[in-house]
Amino acid sequence: MSREEDIITIRQGNSSVSIHHHGATVTSWKCDGLEMLFVSKDAIFNNKKAIRGGIPVVFPNFGPWELGPQHGFARITRWTLKESVSNESCGEAKAVFTLTDTEETRKIWNYNFCVTYTILLRNKEFETRLQVENSGSDEFEFTTLLHTYFSVPDINKTTISGLQGLQFIDKVCESQKFTEDRDQVAIKENYDRVYMSTPNMHVIKNAAGGHSVRMVKENFPDTVVWNPWIDKAKGMSDFGDEEYLNMLCVEPGHVSSPLTLTSGAVFEGKQLLSIIDSNL
Ligand code: BG6
Repeated sequence: MSREEDIITIRQGNSSVSIHHHGATVTSWKCDGLEMLFVSKDAIFNNKKAIRGGIPVVFPNFGPWELGPQHGFARITRWTLKESVSNESCGEAKAVFTLTDTEETRKIWNYNFCVTYTILLRNKEFETRLQVENSGSDEFEFTTLLHTYFSVPDINKTTISGLQGLQFIDKVCESQKFTEDRDQVAIKENYDRVYMSTPNMHVIKNAAGGHSVRMVKENFPDTVVWNPWIDKAKGMSDFGDEEYLNMLCVEPGHVSSPLTLTSGAVFEGKQLLSIIDSNL
């Protein structure tokens, strides 16, 4: 299948969202022609490797995994499109993808599950809902996250709010725990932190077009903030050497402790992104 056939686009007014079947990875969110998400110019679209940018879905494991690939298999598996609606009149466009266990996933992680990923697009506003159902008889544990890559015009001028006073695990400093003292967090180095018990809202200032983007999240108690910076960027084959200047990952998730789902139980986490300072 060609790259075009792999991607579906939903539209609402002057906004659009594109989603790749590989990983149900959102690869674009445009408002009035302005791209709000970052996808690397070197991203590899071979339906095998995770797409470097957009919003990869991390499930059922965040980070290195003794049972399988880093960040789990969801982002490197083809999902099924269940529904796709672009509807001017109701003010909302929608796409729904699902991922259920297969022989291959059970070889890695022997559980039955159904993940439903709903993407909703409204004017200036874009929501992603991740629902995980335990469809088997055995209880399971998992971690999950929406790995949102924001496009930023200059990382040196971008800040994130909503982290002050919180404990974080610093993954570039032997996973030691520290407390954030800044109100507006700026990134000036290789940055890989898991902020814990974060509030339900962050504002990313100086995102694409210089706009502020508000992230409101539900049932995702952690927020990972990541930028590889100069040296790590050079070591990544699917990321341009200078692109660290133009991206910032702010990733809502449930990662510092696992979730447990008993048979038949359902988890739902949400992220809602809105542009809050423009007439777009
Ligand atoms: C972040 C992790 O969420 O994802 C980082 O905290 C990791 O440790 C980054 O480097 C990118 O991961 P990957 O597997 O897409 O290169």
